[in-house]
Amino acid sequence: MTPRTVIVTGSSRGLGLALTRTLLDAGYNVATCSRSLGDALPALLDAHPDRLLWQRAEIGEPVSTQSFIDATVQRFGAPWGLINNAGIAREGILATLPLVEVDSLIQTNLTGAIQVARAVLRHMLSRPGGGRIINISSIIGQRGYTGLTAYAATKAGLDGLTRALAREVGRRQITVNSVAPGYLDTEMSGTLSAGQRDQIVRRTPMGRLGTADDVAPAILFLLGDGARYITGQTLTIDGGISC
Ligand SMILES: NC(=O)c1ccc[n+]([C@@H]2O[C@H](COP(=O)([O-])OP(=O)(O)OC[C@H]3O[C@@H](n4cnc5c(N)ncnc54)[C@H](OP(=O)(O)O)[C@@H]3O)[C@@H](O)[C@H]2O)c1
Repeated sequence: MTPRTVIVTGSSRGLGLALTRTLLDAGYNVATCSRSLGDALPALLDAHPDRLLWQRAEIGEPVSTQSFIDATVQRFGAPWGLINNAGIAREGILATLPLVEVDSLIQTNLTGAIQVARAVLRHMLSRPGGGRIINISSIIGQRGYTGLTAYAATKAGLDGLTRALAREVGRRQITVNSVAPGYLDTEMSGTLSAGQRDQIVRRTPMGRLGTADDVAPAILFLLGDGARYITGQTLTIDGGISC
């Protein structure tokens, strides 16, 4: 059977990289993009030349995004799944956060995700059999966090996108869900101070920050046939900090 293809945006490190590995191990074709190649992708590209595609692309920039989707479809055909993972975080209280930072957060995290979903759906809808869209949001979008107001707004926006799009494409057997991680030990959380990390660990029932590998298996499940009737949901994976 021809492997299914899943698009993962933002794969040079962190969760996107862990997902790329997990999906390759599970037998999927993976089409990925990021602005830089990062340290780990070259070895993966060497190991899986037939099943892994990477293209430099800037999510939030429509021409670059479209060129990545076109390259994916040309190589693998219409994709089965999309994981909208690429994201940035900018810390700072809203009153003083430069507007250019606010715009860039919205452009990458929200507008970019909508652009990718729109471009991918045109192909998913063109063939029968359904599909999967998974948006990586965050518990910050549900609970808030001082200094991450604009980031929180983009992530809450993704959860709204998930619910509305699930209604729009459900009859075509395409499911749309969000996965909302808690604090993950990736480069993105590198700006947390030692005090903030200690506080997060103290408040987390599981007693530690999460890792990308704590989240990837749940995404693998949502991509599979066993998750065919789950749509419009936000799955929180946070070691219990928001329970
Ligand atoms: N870390 C956390 O605590 C946490 C918690 C909840 C949710 N999340 C979400 O999980 C997702 C992954 O985060 P992470 O922790 O893995 O962050 P990360 O380590 O900073 O990785 C982010 C990835 O996105 C890519 N990226 C960023 N902007 C991009 C753009 N405009 N176009 C293309 N690629 C772009 C980066 O690659 P380049 O820089 O090479 O482009 C990188 O590969 C994000 O959506 C984030 O908001 C993270």
